[in-house]
Amino acid sequence: MAELNAALSGTFAIGGDLTVNRLGFGAMRITGQGIWGDPADPAEARATLARVPELNVDFIDTAESYGPYVSEEMIGEVLAPYAGGTIIATKGGLTRTGPGEWPPLGRPEFLRQGVMMSLRRLKLERIDLWQLHRIDPATPRAEQFGVIADMQKEGLIRHAGLSEVSVADIEEASKYFKVATVQNHYNLTNRKSEDVLDYCAANGIGFIPWYPLAGGELTKISEAFGQIVSRYGATPSQIALAWVLKRSPVMLPIPGTGKVAHLEENVAAAAIDLSDEDFATLDAVGKAAG
Ligand SMILES: NC(=O)c1ccc[n+]([C@@H]2O[C@H](COP(=O)([O-])OP(=O)(O)OC[C@H]3O[C@@H](n4cnc5c(N)ncnc54)[C@H](OP(=O)(O)O)[C@@H]3O)[C@@H](O)[C@H]2O)c1
Repeated sequence: MAELNAALSGTFAIGGDLTVNRLGFGAMRITGQGIWGDPADPAEARATLARVPELNVDFIDTAESYGPYVSEEMIGEVLAPYAGGTIIATKGGLTRTGPGEWPPLGRPEFLRQGVMMSLRRLKLERIDLWQLHRIDPATPRAEQFGVIADMQKEGLIRHAGLSEVSVADIEEASKYFKVATVQNHYNLTNRKSEDVLDYCAANGIGFIPWYPLAGGELTKISEAFGQIVSRYGATPSQIALAWVLKRSPVMLPIPGTGKVAHLEENVAAAAIDLSDEDFATLDAVGKAAG
């Protein structure tokens, strides 16, 4: 296997002052079916988390709603006090009414409770990056964005981000607080957020693509994709990750898994240096398949 070192993906300074290796870890998959309850194999999930800092992955994405609480609690148990400076990014603003159900709730008192409880579960005094999981259409935006600005001023959160937003949403939120990151669905075959990614790159905002591994299934439909995968001696997931990493210097992919072997396979993608020609071929086949 190629060298296992997330530092090979390069670095990005979140909010201008919080430097992380670009290839991070998504901690949504260390929970049960429907992102509900405990994982099927808790020992393997714990071992996966423990392996994360050993591979120089120093940026972990989670949310209070993963489990709910299961992901944050396990991170607090396994990794606090975060020796080596692992940065934990979490999210709030979604309720959980059952497996696979995520109704948003942006009432300021609920967002504040979310931050206070994430601090307890993660065993932190300040959250380095707190992201609004969804803008709640039923709560005035001024109230949602306003309480985030307040919590930042109070020192409960260091940097703030958004998830599943448009360029107009980012501009509106930026009137209240500096938007440090945006987390949108993006991968080789899902390119709906290209305009948001370009806006983030132009404004120094970290772009966190969720579901970054999708595209791996391209092997079945694209001969060119399969050829590139075998030429690099890689797996489809690794090529999908190498492509997003090369797409933009503000890209912070957070592939998610509850398995040590998959974590190691994903981190090995940081060592893949795609040629410009292969990048362009993948770009074209990904767009065509999307
Ligand atoms: N902001 C949002 O609304 C939002 C939404 C969804 C996710 N997220 C965040 O984004 C992160 C990534 O998203 P995601 O977990 O949905 O997508 P992903 O990382 O693209 O894919 C994860 C899926 O692929 C499997 N997998 C992982 N590595 C693999 C490998 N090397 N080979 C084969 N299968 C592999 C995982 O299962 P195994 O556990 O079996 O490996 C899991 O089913 C999440 O963990 C979460 O932190 C955010």
